[in-house]
Amino acid sequence: MTESRAVRVELGDAGYDVLVGQRLLTGLGDLLAPLGARRVHVFEDAGLPRAVRDAAAASLGEARVSRQELRLDETSKSLATLESMLHGLASNQLERTDLVVALGGGILGDVAGLAAGLHRRGVGVVQCPTTLLAMVDASVGGKTGINLSTDIDGRAVMLKNAVGLFHQPAMVVADVGVLSSLPPRDLRSGLAECIKHAVIAQGGSGDGLSLSEIESSIASVIGGDWASAAEFVAQNIALKARVVADDERELARGERPGRRALNLGHTFAHAIEALEATRVEIDGRSVHPTHGEAVGLGLLAACRLAERCGVASGDLGSGVAGALGQAGLPQRLAGGAEPDVLISAMRQDKKSQSGSLRLVLPTPEGVIMMDDPGDAALCDAWRAIL
Ligand code: GLY
Repeated sequence: MTESRAVRVELGDAGYDVLVGQRLLTGLGDLLAPLGARRVHVFEDAGLPRAVRDAAAASLGEARVSRQELRLDETSKSLATLESMLHGLASNQLERTDLVVALGGGILGDVAGLAAGLHRRGVGVVQCPTTLLAMVDASVGGKTGINLSTDIDGRAVMLKNAVGLFHQPAMVVADVGVLSSLPPRDLRSGLAECIKHAVIAQGGSGDGLSLSEIESSIASVIGGDWASAAEFVAQNIALKARVVADDERELARGERPGRRALNLGHTFAHAIEALEATRVEIDGRSVHPTHGEAVGLGLLAACRLAERCGVASGDLGSGVAGALGQAGLPQRLAGGAEPDVLISAMRQDKKSQSGSLRLVLPTPEGVIMMDDPGDAALCDAWRAIL
């Protein structure tokens, strides 16, 4: 195990450390010792190299560990997966004072966190994110959940994260060394959330995350310089930790964005993801975008909308485009997506959540909330990426 840095998520008695470093998983047992659990149940991502998973389990002490392997994608963020996890915890007789370890990407962490929050009315969970996106976003802040396919007004709909809990982890262990096993496209996709953080940090207290400062950090991640990448990951986590500490349950309303700031670009991104026909050009192939690729495009659309609404200049959009280009993320939707179809998908997403369209917009001093700006402005924003 090498040196790690700790970022504190300040939530009073529910506060916790996020440890960031290299080779942390081989020393997981020592890191978790202060939590004092008798037994540990590990939900592990089948896509992660077996040697990494075995080393983590060995460090926890095989005799007290039960392991459950899962191969998940967005379609398996479901009641069926939650049920299988709950059976895993029950059949291994995990007690309230024991621990769940979620070793994997954001989807595994979200469902495992929910299972931990429900088992015996709540057992502690340690999030061990293994993708960049999960490290800088999903594993921190206690959001857990699954999607729910249901029927509204006779129409089948899939509600994202419709069932969930706020269940803060007891600790987060981000071992950046595991990022070397990620496919390059996943790594690049995670960078979109880092660029989002840089936009949120605009005009902030100079924490190394502004758009002009992240260029070398993006190069470190792409180039596999994990020592520098660890610093960058910690900076991103520190930003997220501050936002979560300020508004843990996303209850801020009115002008104050609170935790909603983290949704920057996501209303556009969810529409892109929801439409199966949307495509981006990646390595000469036309493919449906990942969440991170959609977030990157959503950031560009949000910048254009901010410019049109007079709250930002074109420089912000150019800065974001530069960062996306450096991260190798797409800046255009390929193949005939129509603004009106995308706008209805945006409105539908909000309607399914019984809400009206309200967007997070970037400005040079951070983000603001804006009510539905109307179809003409939204159309203009979409055209920035078509
Ligand atoms: N991923 C957004 C949030 O944690 O609020």
